Order: sequence, then C-alpha cells, then structure tokens
Amino acid sequence: MMRTRPLKVALLGCGVVGSEVARIMTTHADDLAARIGAPLELAGVAVRRPSKVREGIDPALITTDATALVKRGDIDVVVEVIGGIEPARTLITTAFEHGASVVSANKALLAEDGATLFAAAEKHGKDLYYEAAVAGAIPLLRPLRESLAGDKVNRVLGIVNGTTNFILDRMDSSGAGYSEALDEATALGYAEADPTADVEGFDAAAKAAILAGIAFHTRVRLDDVHREGLTEVTSADIASARRMGCTVKLLAICERAADGKSVTARVHPAMIPLSHPLASVREAYNAVFVEAEAAGQLMFYGPGAGGAPTASAVLGDLVAVCRNRLGESTGPGESAYTRLPVSSMAEVVTRYHISLDVADKPGVLAQVATVFAEHDVSIDTVRQQGRLDSEGLGGEASLVVVTHRAPDAALSGTVEALRKLDTVRGVASIMRVEGE
Ligand code: HSE
Repeated sequence: MMRTRPLKVALLGCGVVGSEVARIMTTHADDLAARIGAPLELAGVAVRRPSKVREGIDPALITTDATALVKRGDIDVVVEVIGGIEPARTLITTAFEHGASVVSANKALLAEDGATLFAAAEKHGKDLYYEAAVAGAIPLLRPLRESLAGDKVNRVLGIVNGTTNFILDRMDSSGAGYSEALDEATALGYAEADPTADVEGFDAAAKAAILAGIAFHTRVRLDDVHREGLTEVTSADIASARRMGCTVKLLAICERAADGKSVTARVHPAMIPLSHPLASVREAYNAVFVEAEAAGQLMFYGPGAGGAPTASAVLGDLVAVCRNRLGESTGPGESAYTRLPVSSMAEVVTRYHISLDVADKPGVLAQVATVFAEHDVSIDTVRQQGRLDSEGLGGEASLVVVTHRAPDAALSGTVEALRKLDTVRGVASIMRVEGE
C-alpha cells in the first residue's frame, strides 16, 4: 500500500556526496517510493554557498540556515553530509529533538563523540544510521550490526582509506617513491590538497574506531586507536616486502584479545602476504576482512569513496530509516553492552620485520640475537647481505630480521636496545607483519 503523504527529507550539505544524494532521490523517485511505501520529498537543502548553481535542485529549497531547517518540526529524516564535529553534532542532536531521524556520513563525529549522538537518538526514539561513514559504498556496518548480530566477531582487518591504498599500490607496482606516488594521487583527485587526514592515518583511525565499536559491541573512540601513517614508508620497505612474498598496506586492525577481556584498534602500515585476499586490493579500492567465530572469514570489497558510491550508502540508509518510520519503529541503536576496555598498542601481539645496517664482523649476529632473546622475542628468519661501506671497502652488512609474534612493547624495546649497540649503524626500517 502506497501512502500518499510524502516523507520529508532535509539535506545538510550539497557537495560531492550531497548533490549525488539529491540527484538519485530525483531520478529514482518512483523506485524509492515503491521500496519505501511512500514518496520522498526533498524539503530543504542547507548549504554554505547559496549562489552556487545546483543542477536539478529547486533554488527555493536552498537555505543557509541549517538550524532552522532541522527545527522545522515536519522533517522526517535529516541527511547530514557536511562532515566535521561542529556544527554537525548540534544539528544532529537538534534534529532528534525536533522529531527527525538522521542519516549521517560523518566518520569524524561518530568516532569522536558517537556516544552523544546515540544517546540523543535513543532519548527521542529516533534512528541514527551511518553506513556511508566507513568504506563508502561497501555494505559493511549493516552486515556487522545486523547480519552478524548472532555471531562473535574476533577480528576486523581492513583497507579503509582509498588514497593511501592508491599511493602504496603505485609504489609497489611502479617502484615510485612516496612523494611521486602522492603527487600522482593528487593529480588524479584521490588525495586532497592537504593530504594529512589520509596519509597520517586519521581518516582510517576514525573508521577503525567505528568498526571496533560495532564489531565488539563496545565503545571505542578515535583517541583509543593507535595511529601511524604511511609517510615513512620507503621504496626499500616495499622491495623488502616483495622479497618476503609480501606487499605493504595501510591497515585498520580491530581485535578482541585472546582472553576476550579487552579489545584493540590500530592503524599502521604493515606487510601482508601476497596470498592474503587484502593484498590484491589495488588502486583506491577498499576491502575489509572480518573473522567471526561461526561465520569464519568474510571479505567486503568495493569503492570506498566518491560522490555516487557514498551516496549509494546514504540512500540505502534513507530507505531503511523511512521504512522504520512508516512502521513506527526504529532499527538497532548503539550496542555497547560488553563495555570491554581498549588496550594500548604495547599489549598488541604482532610480528616485526626489522632491517638493520650493521658492521660485518665476527660476533655481530650473536650480539643482535642476544638482544632479541633478552626481550623474550623469538626470531623467525634472518637474512644478511654484505655490502661496501661509503669508502668502498666492505665490512658492512644489511641484516633483515623477521620475528615470531610477541607483544608490541617487547618488540619496540628490542629495537630501542638494538639502536644502542655500537655494531648497529642504524635501523633502516621497522614494519609489522600481519595477515598470516
Ligand atoms: N579520503 C578517504 C579515502 C575517503 O581516501 O578513502 C573518505 O573517507
């Protein structure tokens, strides 16, 4: 049965994503109405620059007063695609107070202060959906929240930032250095003029916080996520990974501790074996590998950014929220009942690939091995290659050590002690090894 009174949608933001949301709402209006059971009406569009021409949008709907729009009282769903912490947070909580449900793509806000938003949604009996906040078009949060609600997720391992995956893929496939690959990503429009959020891992860390919270039914904030970007990754690291049958990816890793009593969330570059499904994720694509107790291993793959792909996720949420609205119900809210503490990086158990420049003389290997033993870190493989020193006389070597799994604190303590050895000229690179 089609209800004739339309559901009113307020759009906050009309940039790359918002304009695509408006376009799809118009071009697919009949299908969306049939799927929801009522037509959608775009009731207002809040923007910063009202004079900009916005094709397909009635100019009468444009306003710069987002607060008045969310306070109208007749809005069914507010779609927030402006990003950032404020004014987005106040607009969303005001929308709940005035009777609307909310669809948001705002990963930064959800990772920083999701608790405030969830509490406001619950207090007012409204929906807060945010599939587009993590990995763009890829259906991921709904499967975690709903399809896997009966299972126990133990690990989420993902490539959740397209820009950095593009850079690392270029470094791997063409031998380009970091700066050259970043320039290419910028020229192609993947990297922004200020690429800090992507290359320093902030964007991926926000997504890791959201994923960990949903996967483990607990609350994880951006500050809980250990974060390292990829600006230090060199061509030599990539070549070294290749020699080990690995590639380098910027990974978001969320894990439940072996004893089940805590969780961790981290973002850093890591070597993964070429045989791992994430190794074949090329260009700016995203992919997330989920390990659940009963389901086993699942992989979600697709475009993680861009106007239309992100709008697809927003529209999916909009349909779901509107269906709930018509049924006078709400979908699942925040599930944080486990209240598991988030452990620090020091407690994460992982493997290191360490590349050292050492003196090539008797006893050096034994000295290095002793440092590992003193820190209770077991060595898996050692590869040494002699090379000439700066005067061409030899007597130096590159030593590549790959460890077995050990707490990160023990591994970083080992590296600190290695740096103090006279025979260690320098630590050329350190990278974690994951996905085995
Ligand atoms: N800048 C992000 C990326 C997309 O490169 O994947 C938005 O999260």
